[in-house]
Amino acid sequence: MSDKVIIFDTTLRDGEQSPGASMTKDEKVRIARQLERLKVDVIEAGFAASSEGDFQAISAVAAAVKDSIVCSLARANDKDITRAADALKAANAKRIHAFLATSPLHMAVKLRMSPEEVLEQAKRSIRFARNLAEDVEFSAEDGYRSEMDFLCRVVEGVINEGATTINIPDTVGYATPELYGEFIKTLRTRVPNSDKAVWSVHCHNDLGMAVANSLAGVKIGGARQIECTVNGLGERAGNTALEEIVMALRTRKDYFDMVCGIDATQIVPASKLVSQITGFVVQPNKAVVGANAFAHTSGIHQDGILKNRDTYEIMRAEDVGWATNKIVLGKLSGRNAFKQRLQELGIAIEAEADLNEAFVRFKTLADQKSEIFDEDIIAIMSDSAAAEEGEFYKFISLSQHSETGERPKSKVTFRVGDKEASSEAEGNGPVDASLNAIEQIVKSGAEQLLYSVNAITSGTQSQGEVTVRLAKGGRIVNGVGTDPDIIAASAKAYLSALNKLHDPSQAKLNAQMTP
Ligand code: KIV
Ligand code: ZN
Repeated sequence: MSDKVIIFDTTLRDGEQSPGASMTKDEKVRIARQLERLKVDVIEAGFAASSEGDFQAISAVAAAVKDSIVCSLARANDKDITRAADALKAANAKRIHAFLATSPLHMAVKLRMSPEEVLEQAKRSIRFARNLAEDVEFSAEDGYRSEMDFLCRVVEGVINEGATTINIPDTVGYATPELYGEFIKTLRTRVPNSDKAVWSVHCHNDLGMAVANSLAGVKIGGARQIECTVNGLGERAGNTALEEIVMALRTRKDYFDMVCGIDATQIVPASKLVSQITGFVVQPNKAVVGANAFAHTSGIHQDGILKNRDTYEIMRAEDVGWATNKIVLGKLSGRNAFKQRLQELGIAIEAEADLNEAFVRFKTLADQKSEIFDEDIIAIMSDSAAAEEGEFYKFISLSQHSETGERPKSKVTFRVGDKEASSEAEGNGPVDASLNAIEQIVKSGAEQLLYSVNAITSGTQSQGEVTVRLAKGGRIVNGVGTDPDIIAASAKAYLSALNKLHDPSQAKLNAQMTP
Protein backbone atom coordinates (compact mmCIF):
# COMPACT_ATOMS: atom_id res chain seq x y z
CA MET A 1 0.00 0.00 0.00
CA SER A 2 1.24 3.50 -0.82
CA ASP A 3 2.01 5.81 2.09
CA LYS A 4 -0.32 8.72 2.76
CA VAL A 5 0.97 12.29 2.73
CA ILE A 6 -0.94 14.64 5.02
CA ILE A 7 -1.83 17.91 3.28
CA PHE A 8 -1.60 20.77 5.78
CA ASP A 9 -2.97 23.94 4.23
CA THR A 10 -1.73 27.23 5.60
CA THR A 11 -3.33 29.64 3.09
CA LEU A 12 -5.23 31.31 5.94
CA ARG A 13 -2.11 31.79 8.05
CA ASP A 14 1.18 31.79 6.12
CA GLY A 15 -0.68 32.77 2.93
CA GLU A 16 -2.24 35.68 4.73
CA GLN A 17 1.22 36.94 5.63
CA SER A 18 1.71 38.01 1.99
CA PRO A 19 1.71 41.81 2.09
CA GLY A 20 -1.82 42.90 1.25
CA ALA A 21 -3.43 39.46 1.44
CA SER A 22 -5.14 39.94 4.79
CA MET A 23 -8.60 38.40 4.98
CA THR A 24 -11.65 39.18 7.02
CA LYS A 25 -13.35 36.61 9.24
CA ASP A 26 -16.07 35.88 6.69
CA GLU A 27 -13.54 35.56 3.88
CA LYS A 28 -11.55 33.07 5.94
CA VAL A 29 -14.69 31.02 6.56
CA ARG A 30 -15.52 31.01 2.82
CA ILE A 31 -12.02 29.79 1.96
CA ALA A 32 -12.05 27.24 4.81
CA ARG A 33 -15.30 25.76 3.44
CA GLN A 34 -13.65 25.39 0.03
CA LEU A 35 -10.55 23.82 1.63
CA GLU A 36 -12.85 21.31 3.26
CA ARG A 37 -14.43 20.51 -0.12
CA LEU A 38 -10.87 20.06 -1.38
CA LYS A 39 -10.48 17.57 1.49
CA VAL A 40 -7.30 18.98 2.99
CA ASP A 41 -6.33 17.12 6.16
CA VAL A 42 -5.40 20.17 8.25
CA ILE A 43 -6.49 23.81 7.88
CA GLU A 44 -4.22 26.28 9.67
CA ALA A 45 -6.77 29.05 10.18
CA GLY A 46 -4.52 31.73 11.65
CA PHE A 47 -2.41 32.84 14.56
CA ALA A 48 -4.83 33.36 17.45
CA ALA A 49 -2.60 35.56 19.63
CA SER A 50 -1.69 37.92 16.79
CA SER A 51 -4.91 39.98 16.92
CA GLU A 52 -8.48 39.89 18.19
CA GLY A 53 -9.59 39.71 14.54
CA ASP A 54 -7.54 36.58 13.89
CA PHE A 55 -8.79 34.99 17.13
CA GLN A 56 -12.41 35.56 15.99
CA ALA A 57 -11.62 34.27 12.50
CA ILE A 58 -10.10 31.04 13.85
CA SER A 59 -13.10 30.52 16.15
CA ALA A 60 -15.47 31.00 13.20
CA VAL A 61 -13.50 28.57 11.01
CA ALA A 62 -13.40 26.04 13.88
CA ALA A 63 -17.20 26.23 14.15
CA ALA A 64 -17.79 26.01 10.38
CA VAL A 65 -15.44 23.15 9.46
CA LYS A 66 -16.57 19.60 10.19
CA ASP A 67 -14.15 17.20 8.48
CA SER A 68 -10.67 18.76 8.44
CA ILE A 69 -8.52 19.31 11.53
CA VAL A 70 -8.46 23.04 12.37
CA CYS A 71 -5.16 24.45 13.63
CA SER A 72 -3.89 27.68 15.15
CA LEU A 73 -0.29 28.84 15.20
CA ALA A 74 1.17 29.98 18.55
CA ARG A 75 4.56 31.14 19.74
CA ALA A 76 6.01 28.62 22.17
CA ASN A 77 4.69 30.29 25.32
CA ASP A 78 1.75 29.65 27.68
CA LYS A 79 -0.15 32.80 26.73
CA ASP A 80 -0.14 32.19 22.97
CA ILE A 81 -0.88 28.50 23.39
CA THR A 82 -3.85 29.19 25.68
CA ARG A 83 -5.16 31.71 23.16
CA ALA A 84 -4.84 29.12 20.37
CA ALA A 85 -6.69 26.50 22.43
CA ASP A 86 -9.47 28.99 23.26
CA ALA A 87 -9.91 29.94 19.60
CA LEU A 88 -10.17 26.26 18.64
CA LYS A 89 -12.81 25.35 21.26
CA ALA A 90 -15.60 24.74 18.72
CA ALA A 91 -13.48 22.51 16.44
CA ASN A 92 -14.43 18.88 15.85
CA ALA A 93 -10.73 18.10 15.64
CA LYS A 94 -8.09 20.63 16.66
CA ARG A 95 -4.34 21.07 16.52
CA ILE A 96 -2.09 23.51 18.35
CA HIS A 97 1.00 24.47 16.36
CA ALA A 98 3.78 25.96 18.51
CA PHE A 99 6.94 27.37 16.98
CA LEU A 100 10.30 28.55 18.26
CA ALA A 101 13.40 29.51 16.27
CA THR A 102 16.39 27.18 16.54
CA SER A 103 18.99 28.66 14.17
CA PRO A 104 22.04 30.38 15.75
CA LEU A 105 21.15 33.66 14.04
CA HIS A 106 17.50 33.72 15.13
CA MET A 107 18.30 32.61 18.70
CA ALA A 108 21.02 35.23 19.17
CA VAL A 109 19.58 38.20 17.31
CA LYS A 110 15.82 37.78 17.39
CA LEU A 111 15.12 35.81 20.56
CA ARG A 112 18.25 36.82 22.50
CA MET A 113 18.20 33.42 24.14
CA SER A 114 20.91 30.83 24.62
CA PRO A 115 20.46 27.43 22.95
CA GLU A 116 19.84 25.84 26.39
CA GLU A 117 17.07 28.37 27.10
CA VAL A 118 15.50 27.65 23.71
CA LEU A 119 15.61 23.91 24.36
CA GLU A 120 13.93 24.32 27.75
CA GLN A 121 11.27 26.70 26.42
CA ALA A 122 10.46 24.40 23.50
CA LYS A 123 9.97 21.42 25.85
CA ARG A 124 7.98 23.42 28.40
CA SER A 125 5.66 24.80 25.73
CA ILE A 126 4.87 21.39 24.28
CA ARG A 127 4.23 19.98 27.78
CA PHE A 128 1.82 22.86 28.33
CA ALA A 129 0.12 22.47 24.92
CA ARG A 130 -0.42 18.76 25.47
CA ASN A 131 -2.63 19.62 28.47
CA LEU A 132 -4.90 21.51 26.09
CA ALA A 133 -4.85 19.32 22.95
CA GLU A 134 -3.96 15.79 21.91
CA ASP A 135 -2.68 16.91 18.55
CA VAL A 136 0.34 19.21 18.96
CA GLU A 137 2.79 20.25 16.27
CA PHE A 138 6.20 21.76 16.95
CA SER A 139 7.99 23.87 14.34
CA ALA A 140 11.67 24.68 14.63
CA GLU A 141 11.57 28.04 12.90
CA ASP A 142 14.51 28.54 10.53
CA GLY A 143 15.07 24.82 11.14
CA TYR A 144 17.01 24.28 7.93
CA ARG A 145 19.69 26.80 9.01
CA SER A 146 19.98 25.26 12.49
CA GLU A 147 22.92 23.20 13.76
CA MET A 148 22.19 19.52 13.35
CA ASP A 149 23.32 18.41 16.85
CA PHE A 150 21.28 21.09 18.57
CA LEU A 151 18.21 20.53 16.39
CA CYS A 152 18.34 16.78 17.17
CA ARG A 153 18.26 17.59 20.90
CA VAL A 154 15.33 19.98 20.50
CA VAL A 155 13.31 17.54 18.40
CA GLU A 156 14.02 14.61 20.73
CA GLY A 157 13.00 16.79 23.69
CA VAL A 158 9.69 17.96 22.23
CA ILE A 159 8.75 14.46 21.07
CA ASN A 160 9.36 13.24 24.63
CA GLU A 161 6.98 15.97 25.82
CA GLY A 162 4.30 14.70 23.44
CA ALA A 163 4.66 16.60 20.14
CA THR A 164 2.80 14.53 17.55
CA THR A 165 4.12 16.34 14.45
CA ILE A 166 7.61 17.76 13.91
CA ASN A 167 7.92 20.44 11.26
CA ILE A 168 11.29 21.54 9.89
CA PRO A 169 10.72 24.79 8.01
CA ASP A 170 13.00 26.27 5.42
CA THR A 171 11.81 29.65 6.63
CA VAL A 172 13.92 31.74 4.29
CA GLY A 173 13.77 29.53 1.19
CA TYR A 174 17.50 28.76 1.30
CA ALA A 175 17.39 24.99 0.76
CA THR A 176 17.95 22.97 -2.40
CA PRO A 177 16.05 19.72 -3.00
CA GLU A 178 18.71 17.07 -2.35
CA LEU A 179 20.26 18.91 0.59
CA TYR A 180 16.88 19.50 2.22
CA GLY A 181 15.81 15.87 1.69
CA GLU A 182 19.10 14.65 3.20
CA PHE A 183 18.72 17.09 6.12
CA ILE A 184 15.32 15.61 7.06
CA LYS A 185 16.66 12.08 6.57
CA THR A 186 19.64 12.72 8.87
CA LEU A 187 17.38 14.17 11.53
CA ARG A 188 15.02 11.21 11.35
CA THR A 189 17.95 8.81 11.58
CA ARG A 190 19.66 10.57 14.47
CA VAL A 191 16.70 11.44 16.70
CA PRO A 192 16.14 8.29 18.78
CA ASN A 193 12.35 8.73 19.18
CA SER A 194 11.76 9.98 15.61
CA ASP A 195 9.20 7.23 14.91
CA LYS A 196 6.87 8.67 17.58
CA ALA A 197 5.92 11.70 15.46
CA VAL A 198 4.91 12.55 11.91
CA TRP A 199 7.61 14.57 10.10
CA SER A 200 6.56 17.61 8.19
CA VAL A 201 8.08 19.99 5.63
CA HIS A 202 7.35 23.71 5.22
CA CYS A 203 9.29 25.44 2.45
CA HIS A 204 9.38 29.03 1.26
CA ASN A 205 9.89 29.86 -2.37
CA ASP A 206 12.61 32.53 -2.36
CA LEU A 207 14.70 30.60 -4.89
CA GLY A 208 11.70 29.08 -6.66
CA MET A 209 12.35 25.62 -5.18
CA ALA A 210 9.64 25.30 -2.50
CA VAL A 211 7.70 22.55 -4.28
CA ALA A 212 10.84 20.63 -5.28
CA ASN A 213 12.24 20.93 -1.74
CA SER A 214 8.99 19.73 -0.16
CA LEU A 215 8.81 16.73 -2.48
CA ALA A 216 12.45 15.89 -1.72
CA GLY A 217 11.63 16.14 2.00
CA VAL A 218 9.03 13.45 1.42
CA LYS A 219 10.88 11.26 -1.07
CA ILE A 220 14.41 11.43 0.34
CA GLY A 221 13.73 12.54 3.90
CA GLY A 222 10.69 10.42 4.72
CA ALA A 223 8.43 13.30 5.78
CA ARG A 224 4.73 12.51 5.62
CA GLN A 225 3.17 15.96 5.97
CA ILE A 226 3.53 18.84 3.50
CA GLU A 227 2.62 22.38 4.51
CA CYS A 228 1.40 24.38 1.54
CA THR A 229 -0.91 27.12 0.32
CA VAL A 230 -3.35 27.54 -2.54
CA ASN A 231 -1.63 29.36 -5.46
CA GLY A 232 1.61 29.25 -3.43
CA LEU A 233 0.54 32.34 -1.50
CA GLY A 234 2.84 33.25 1.40
CA GLU A 235 5.52 35.51 2.86
CA ARG A 236 7.79 37.17 0.28
CA ALA A 237 8.01 34.82 -2.75
CA GLY A 238 5.40 32.56 -1.21
CA ASN A 239 5.04 29.05 0.10
CA THR A 240 4.80 25.59 -1.46
CA ALA A 241 1.90 25.53 -3.95
CA LEU A 242 -0.74 23.00 -2.90
CA GLU A 243 -1.96 22.39 -6.47
CA GLU A 244 1.55 21.56 -7.71
CA ILE A 245 2.27 19.19 -4.82
CA VAL A 246 -1.02 17.34 -5.25
CA MET A 247 -0.70 16.98 -9.01
CA ALA A 248 2.98 15.97 -8.81
CA LEU A 249 2.15 13.20 -6.32
CA ARG A 250 -0.74 12.09 -8.52
CA THR A 251 0.82 12.39 -11.97
CA ARG A 252 4.15 10.85 -10.87
CA LYS A 253 2.73 8.19 -8.58
CA ASP A 254 5.06 5.78 -10.40
CA TYR A 255 7.98 7.65 -8.80
CA PHE A 256 6.66 8.96 -5.47
CA ASP A 257 4.40 5.97 -4.68
CA MET A 258 2.44 8.17 -2.30
CA VAL A 259 -1.22 9.15 -2.01
CA CYS A 260 -3.05 12.12 -0.57
CA GLY A 261 -6.74 12.53 0.14
CA ILE A 262 -7.30 15.70 -1.97
CA ASP A 263 -10.28 15.96 -4.33
CA ALA A 264 -8.34 17.45 -7.26
CA THR A 265 -11.50 18.63 -9.05
CA GLN A 266 -11.82 21.30 -6.36
CA ILE A 267 -8.35 22.75 -7.07
CA VAL A 268 -9.33 25.37 -9.67
CA PRO A 269 -12.40 26.60 -7.72
CA ALA A 270 -10.12 26.94 -4.66
CA SER A 271 -7.51 28.80 -6.68
CA LYS A 272 -10.10 31.21 -8.10
CA LEU A 273 -11.66 31.87 -4.71
CA VAL A 274 -8.31 32.60 -3.04
CA SER A 275 -7.24 34.82 -5.93
CA GLN A 276 -10.52 36.71 -5.89
CA ILE A 277 -10.53 37.27 -2.13
CA THR A 278 -6.89 38.27 -1.80
CA GLY A 279 -6.61 40.16 -5.09
CA PHE A 280 -3.50 38.13 -5.99
CA VAL A 281 -3.95 37.36 -9.66
CA VAL A 282 -2.65 33.96 -10.79
CA GLN A 283 -0.01 34.28 -13.52
CA PRO A 284 -1.26 32.76 -16.81
CA ASN A 285 1.66 30.31 -17.09
CA LYS A 286 1.35 29.09 -13.47
CA ALA A 287 1.38 25.28 -13.31
CA VAL A 288 -2.04 23.61 -12.90
CA VAL A 289 -4.10 26.74 -12.11
CA GLY A 290 -2.78 29.32 -14.61
CA ALA A 291 -5.16 30.25 -17.45
CA ASN A 292 -2.67 28.86 -20.02
CA ALA A 293 -1.79 25.70 -18.09
CA PHE A 294 -3.84 23.55 -20.48
CA ALA A 295 -3.88 25.80 -23.56
CA HIS A 296 -2.28 24.52 -26.75
CA THR A 297 -1.58 27.15 -29.39
CA SER A 298 1.12 25.77 -31.64
CA GLY A 299 -0.29 23.97 -34.67
CA ILE A 300 1.89 20.90 -34.13
CA HIS A 301 0.69 20.60 -30.54
CA GLN A 302 -2.96 21.08 -31.48
CA ASP A 303 -2.64 18.44 -34.18
CA GLY A 304 -1.05 16.03 -31.68
CA ILE A 305 -3.75 16.66 -29.09
CA LEU A 306 -6.51 16.01 -31.62
CA LYS A 307 -4.91 12.67 -32.52
CA ASN A 308 -4.21 11.63 -28.94
CA ARG A 309 -4.33 13.87 -25.85
CA ASP A 310 -1.36 12.05 -24.30
CA THR A 311 0.98 13.52 -26.93
CA TYR A 312 1.17 16.85 -25.12
CA GLU A 313 -0.88 16.45 -21.92
CA ILE A 314 0.27 14.80 -18.71
CA MET A 315 -2.84 15.90 -16.80
CA ARG A 316 -6.45 16.58 -17.78
CA ALA A 317 -7.86 20.08 -17.31
CA GLU A 318 -11.16 18.62 -16.09
CA ASP A 319 -9.36 16.52 -13.43
CA VAL A 320 -8.27 19.71 -11.63
CA GLY A 321 -11.63 21.42 -12.01
CA TRP A 322 -11.27 23.52 -15.13
CA ALA A 323 -14.74 23.99 -16.56
CA THR A 324 -14.54 24.13 -20.33
CA ASN A 325 -16.15 27.56 -20.69
CA LYS A 326 -19.51 25.89 -21.23
CA ILE A 327 -22.48 28.16 -21.90
CA VAL A 328 -24.72 26.95 -19.15
CA LEU A 329 -27.52 29.42 -18.74
CA GLY A 330 -29.08 32.47 -20.33
CA LYS A 331 -31.81 35.05 -20.05
CA LEU A 332 -34.61 32.50 -20.27
CA SER A 333 -33.22 30.10 -17.67
CA GLY A 334 -35.42 29.69 -14.62
CA ARG A 335 -34.76 29.47 -10.90
CA ASN A 336 -34.65 25.66 -10.95
CA ALA A 337 -32.06 25.53 -13.72
CA PHE A 338 -29.97 28.05 -11.78
CA LYS A 339 -30.28 26.03 -8.57
CA GLN A 340 -29.34 22.80 -10.34
CA ARG A 341 -26.25 24.36 -11.90
CA LEU A 342 -25.16 25.61 -8.48
CA GLN A 343 -25.47 22.06 -7.16
CA GLU A 344 -23.46 20.70 -10.10
CA LEU A 345 -20.75 23.26 -9.33
CA GLY A 346 -20.68 22.09 -5.70
CA ILE A 347 -21.90 25.47 -4.39
CA ALA A 348 -24.00 24.99 -1.29
CA ILE A 349 -26.84 27.44 -0.68
CA GLU A 350 -28.00 27.24 2.87
CA ALA A 351 -31.01 29.57 3.05
CA GLU A 352 -33.83 30.03 0.53
CA ALA A 353 -33.47 33.82 0.88
CA ASP A 354 -29.82 33.57 -0.26
CA LEU A 355 -30.87 31.58 -3.33
CA ASN A 356 -33.48 34.22 -4.18
CA GLU A 357 -30.96 37.01 -3.79
CA ALA A 358 -28.40 35.17 -5.97
CA PHE A 359 -31.08 34.49 -8.59
CA VAL A 360 -31.90 38.21 -8.80
CA ARG A 361 -28.19 38.91 -9.42
CA PHE A 362 -28.16 36.19 -12.08
CA LYS A 363 -31.17 37.70 -13.87
CA THR A 364 -29.62 41.17 -13.81
CA LEU A 365 -26.45 39.77 -15.35
CA ALA A 366 -28.38 37.73 -17.93
CA ASP A 367 -30.05 40.97 -19.07
CA GLN A 368 -26.64 42.49 -19.72
CA LYS A 369 -24.85 39.45 -21.12
CA SER A 370 -26.52 36.78 -23.25
CA GLU A 371 -24.22 33.86 -22.42
CA ILE A 372 -23.67 32.95 -18.79
CA PHE A 373 -20.67 30.70 -18.08
CA ASP A 374 -19.78 28.70 -14.97
CA GLU A 375 -17.21 31.36 -14.10
CA ASP A 376 -19.98 33.99 -14.14
CA ILE A 377 -22.06 31.92 -11.74
CA ILE A 378 -19.09 31.51 -9.38
CA ALA A 379 -18.59 35.31 -9.47
CA ILE A 380 -22.29 35.92 -8.75
CA MET A 381 -22.07 33.63 -5.73
CA SER A 382 -18.92 35.36 -4.49
CA ASP A 383 -20.69 38.72 -4.82
CA SER A 384 -23.66 37.35 -2.86
CA ALA A 385 -21.40 36.02 -0.12
CA ALA A 386 -19.60 39.35 0.05
CA ALA A 387 -22.94 41.18 0.24
CA GLU A 388 -23.90 39.05 3.24
CA GLU A 389 -20.88 40.50 5.03
CA GLY A 390 -22.81 43.78 5.24
CA GLU A 391 -23.04 46.61 2.73
CA PHE A 392 -23.10 50.12 4.13
CA TYR A 393 -22.23 51.48 0.70
CA LYS A 394 -24.05 49.88 -2.21
CA PHE A 395 -23.59 50.63 -5.91
CA ILE A 396 -26.74 51.76 -7.76
CA SER A 397 -25.72 53.23 -11.13
CA LEU A 398 -23.06 55.09 -13.05
CA SER A 399 -22.89 57.29 -16.12
CA GLN A 400 -19.65 58.32 -17.65
CA HIS A 401 -18.30 60.40 -20.51
CA SER A 402 -14.88 60.20 -22.14
CA GLU A 403 -13.64 61.69 -25.38
CA THR A 404 -10.14 61.86 -26.81
CA GLY A 405 -8.43 65.06 -25.68
CA GLU A 406 -10.89 65.74 -22.82
CA ARG A 407 -10.76 64.83 -19.16
CA PRO A 408 -13.26 62.00 -18.50
CA LYS A 409 -16.24 62.73 -16.23
CA SER A 410 -18.23 60.27 -14.18
CA LYS A 411 -21.43 60.41 -12.13
CA VAL A 412 -21.91 57.65 -9.56
CA THR A 413 -25.07 56.96 -7.56
CA PHE A 414 -24.87 54.69 -4.53
CA ARG A 415 -26.46 54.04 -1.17
CA VAL A 416 -24.83 55.35 1.99
CA GLY A 417 -26.58 53.54 4.84
CA ASP A 418 -30.28 54.10 4.08
CA LYS A 419 -29.80 57.23 1.94
CA GLU A 420 -29.07 57.61 -1.76
CA ALA A 421 -26.15 59.80 -2.83
CA SER A 422 -24.91 61.01 -6.22
CA SER A 423 -21.66 62.69 -7.10
CA GLU A 424 -19.84 63.84 -10.22
CA ALA A 425 -16.10 64.14 -10.71
CA GLU A 426 -13.33 64.25 -13.30
CA GLY A 427 -10.24 62.06 -13.40
CA ASN A 428 -7.25 60.94 -15.44
CA GLY A 429 -9.34 58.16 -16.89
CA PRO A 430 -12.93 56.91 -16.51
CA VAL A 431 -12.03 54.66 -13.56
CA ASP A 432 -10.18 57.45 -11.77
CA ALA A 433 -13.14 59.82 -12.37
CA SER A 434 -15.60 57.26 -10.91
CA LEU A 435 -13.51 56.60 -7.80
CA ASN A 436 -13.02 60.35 -7.33
CA ALA A 437 -16.80 60.79 -7.48
CA ILE A 438 -17.27 58.17 -4.74
CA GLU A 439 -14.44 59.61 -2.67
CA GLN A 440 -16.01 63.08 -2.85
CA ILE A 441 -18.88 61.75 -0.74
CA VAL A 442 -17.20 59.13 1.43
CA LYS A 443 -14.00 61.12 2.12
CA SER A 444 -12.21 57.98 3.31
CA GLY A 445 -8.73 59.36 2.63
CA ALA A 446 -7.60 55.75 2.15
CA GLU A 447 -4.42 55.06 0.21
CA GLN A 448 -4.86 52.95 -2.94
CA LEU A 449 -2.36 50.10 -2.89
CA LEU A 450 -3.61 48.08 -5.82
CA TYR A 451 -6.01 48.26 -8.74
CA SER A 452 -6.29 45.29 -11.07
CA VAL A 453 -8.73 44.14 -13.76
CA ASN A 454 -9.18 40.58 -14.88
CA ALA A 455 -11.49 39.05 -17.49
CA ILE A 456 -13.51 36.24 -15.85
CA THR A 457 -13.94 34.36 -19.12
CA SER A 458 -12.49 34.89 -22.58
CA GLY A 459 -13.58 37.46 -25.17
CA THR A 460 -14.86 41.01 -24.88
CA GLN A 461 -18.27 39.76 -23.73
CA SER A 462 -16.61 38.67 -20.52
CA GLN A 463 -17.35 40.23 -17.16
CA GLY A 464 -14.49 42.25 -15.72
CA GLU A 465 -13.39 41.41 -12.21
CA VAL A 466 -11.74 44.35 -10.48
CA THR A 467 -9.75 44.23 -7.24
CA VAL A 468 -9.00 47.37 -5.25
CA ARG A 469 -6.72 47.28 -2.20
CA LEU A 470 -6.94 50.17 0.25
CA ALA A 471 -4.90 51.06 3.33
CA LYS A 472 -5.93 53.28 6.19
CA GLY A 473 -4.75 53.57 9.77
CA GLY A 474 -2.65 50.41 9.59
CA ARG A 475 -5.53 48.40 8.13
CA ILE A 476 -5.43 46.91 4.66
CA VAL A 477 -8.58 45.72 2.90
CA ASN A 478 -9.43 44.24 -0.49
CA GLY A 479 -12.60 44.95 -2.42
CA VAL A 480 -13.74 42.96 -5.43
CA GLY A 481 -16.41 43.93 -7.97
CA THR A 482 -17.63 42.20 -11.12
CA ASP A 483 -19.65 43.59 -14.01
CA PRO A 484 -19.62 43.39 -17.81
CA ASP A 485 -18.78 47.14 -17.65
CA ILE A 486 -15.31 47.43 -16.09
CA ILE A 487 -15.95 51.01 -14.95
CA ALA A 488 -18.98 49.82 -12.97
CA ALA A 489 -16.93 46.83 -11.72
CA SER A 490 -14.31 49.32 -10.50
CA ALA A 491 -16.88 51.40 -8.63
CA LYS A 492 -18.31 48.24 -7.05
CA ALA A 493 -14.83 47.05 -6.02
CA TYR A 494 -14.04 50.44 -4.47
CA LEU A 495 -17.33 50.48 -2.55
CA SER A 496 -16.73 46.90 -1.39
CA ALA A 497 -13.31 47.90 0.01
CA LEU A 498 -14.87 50.98 1.66
CA ASN A 499 -17.48 48.71 3.28
CA LYS A 500 -14.69 46.76 4.92
CA LEU A 501 -12.98 49.91 6.15
CA HIS A 502 -16.31 51.15 7.46
CA ASP A 503 -17.01 47.97 9.48
CA PRO A 504 -14.09 47.40 11.89
CA SER A 505 -15.04 43.73 12.34
CA GLN A 506 -14.47 43.22 8.61
CA ALA A 507 -10.95 44.60 8.57
CA LYS A 508 -7.89 43.43 10.43
CA LEU A 509 -4.36 44.52 10.97
CA ASN A 510 -2.30 43.32 8.08
CA ALA A 511 0.34 40.64 8.62
CA GLN A 512 0.64 38.92 11.92
CA MET A 513 3.22 40.06 14.45
CA THR A 514 5.60 37.19 13.87
CA PRO A 515 7.06 35.05 12.35
O1 KIV B 1 8.21 29.75 7.74
C1 KIV B 1 8.13 29.38 8.92
O2 KIV B 1 9.11 29.08 9.59
C2 KIV B 1 6.80 29.32 9.50
C3 KIV B 1 6.69 28.58 10.79
C4 KIV B 1 6.02 29.40 11.82
C5 KIV B 1 6.00 27.27 10.60
O3 KIV B 1 5.85 29.77 8.93
ZN1 ZN C 1 6.29 29.93 6.73
